[in-house]
Amino acid sequence: MIKTLSTYKELCSVVADIVEHTLTLPKPKLVLPTGSTPISLYKELVNRDLDWSTTTTFNLDEYVINPNHPQSYNSFMKKHLFDRVNIYPDNYHFPFRPTEAYEDKIKEIDLCILGIGTNGHIAFNEPGSTIDSRTRVVDLSEQTIRDNSRFFPTIDDVPKQAITMGLGTIMESKKIVLMANGEHKLNILNVAMNGEVTEDVPASILQNHKNVKVYYSD
Ligand code: PGA
Repeated sequence: MIKTLSTYKELCSVVADIVEHTLTLPKPKLVLPTGSTPISLYKELVNRDLDWSTTTTFNLDEYVINPNHPQSYNSFMKKHLFDRVNIYPDNYHFPFRPTEAYEDKIKEIDLCILGIGTNGHIAFNEPGSTIDSRTRVVDLSEQTIRDNSRFFPTIDDVPKQAITMGLGTIMESKKIVLMANGEHKLNILNVAMNGEVTEDVPASILQNHKNVKVYYSD
């Protein structure tokens, strides 16, 4: 189930090919991730100079934070992708409250791209998230707060809550691609893809999806 690629560059190039193909569909709908892993994917997509004018996107998650904060996922996406391609600002979306209203917009997703946390989370569905969970406000786990503290001046500045798409929401995507980069992800990736499907390892639910690709580079 896990396809290993020789470099991070190749990982991003393979996933960029999948995105490029998806953008040729009529009115494509994508779900997009943030974090360190997709940074070069977005760079590659910008370099390919693709037409995003009919594309609609939904981000997987967002901190409970001012959207203009430099570490918000809104700022991240503008910096790495949205301000650099011809997507219409009305066509990209970030989780908002009421979360049910965001959930209602997420229909008929052609492609959902995911990362994986070292604790097995996908989006901010932390261990214990239910398999049928929907978009909601969540408390971040201590592990995630520690992992993400590298982006903030101190660990106390890391938001404690986020809004995330649910596992049930993600699983309704027609196609899912999970990207993992670095040896620190290998163990959890193996547990998630080859172990039992359990709410303790949220990414393991992907084993139940009919059209999922998992790419890893070390
Ligand atoms: P990362 O985060 O790409 O920064 O490793 C992935 C995740 O936590 O989903």
